[in-house]
Amino acid sequence: MSLKPHSTEWYDRLSTLQRGYYYPWKSKLPLINGEDIFLAQVKDMITPAKDVLEVGCGHGELALQLAASCQTLLAYDRVPAYIRLAQASADEQQVTNVTFVCADSSLATNQRAHIPAGEQSFDVIYSRRGPLHWIDDARRVARPNATLIQLNPSPLPPPIWNQYLPQQFQLPEFGALTMEQIVRQRLAQNQITIHSCWTFQVQETFSTPEDFYTFITWGHDPTNVPPLTQLAPTLNRIFQDYANPDGLEIPFGRFLWHSIIR
Ligand SMILES: C[S@@+](CC[C@H](N)C(=O)[O-])C[C@H]1O[C@@H](n2cnc3c(N)ncnc32)[C@H](O)[C@@H]1O
Repeated sequence: MSLKPHSTEWYDRLSTLQRGYYYPWKSKLPLINGEDIFLAQVKDMITPAKDVLEVGCGHGELALQLAASCQTLLAYDRVPAYIRLAQASADEQQVTNVTFVCADSSLATNQRAHIPAGEQSFDVIYSRRGPLHWIDDARRVARPNATLIQLNPSPLPPPIWNQYLPQQFQLPEFGALTMEQIVRQRLAQNQITIHSCWTFQVQETFSTPEDFYTFITWGHDPTNVPPLTQLAPTLNRIFQDYANPDGLEIPFGRFLWHSIIR
């Protein structure tokens, strides 16, 4: 069945196809790409006295990486398989100041956005590529002067070769609003302003058609994914006509923002 990438049903299916949330292909990103800056900034914000929240933590890799730097960390995700993996890793690594919670904070599930925590619980709230609806409940769980920081995928217009891919594997068309506009609207609805923000527009380079195949078919229903041999003529042709000596470039956009709760 064809599902909208990153919809709840799509995440549920992905969690049955691979262990945890990660990208299974090999590709290259330039040194500065948004993901790296996000990580450096979150690390800067976290200190041993801080209580921290991660929204949409996947299988908990980042939370476990940051745990030693803060007082407590609550990390939640709506996919039970991810939280089970996260808890197993915490047990294995003997990390005791992280609480993993399986919860869906969406409006659809709770009648209003609901973060699974009490009032004024956190000094820092971060989310790496998680959803946006939690912003509606951020004021309740944030302490005065808490920092919010999120990295969001920010789609860019697809390259010309997109039209040669089978429709189900085409990159999505560019939406009417940019990610920055969507985030600003959501924050404004909650009387929160952006303190600082950055847009990253770089290229992700795939050096082989095989990695490109893994990328475009990721998260699809395996029973509807043609084998590589069937797609190879199309992919090889795209590489032949559009790749540079390093490989095929695909636009990679990120929007990174901070707010401070006043
Ligand atoms: C793009 S993944 C990122 C995972 C992780 N933050 C990382 O960087 O590897 C987005 C995550 O947000 C979670 N998510 C989406 N909607 C959610 C919701 N309503 N409540 C809780 N988690 C949600 C998904 O299950 C998924 O694990």
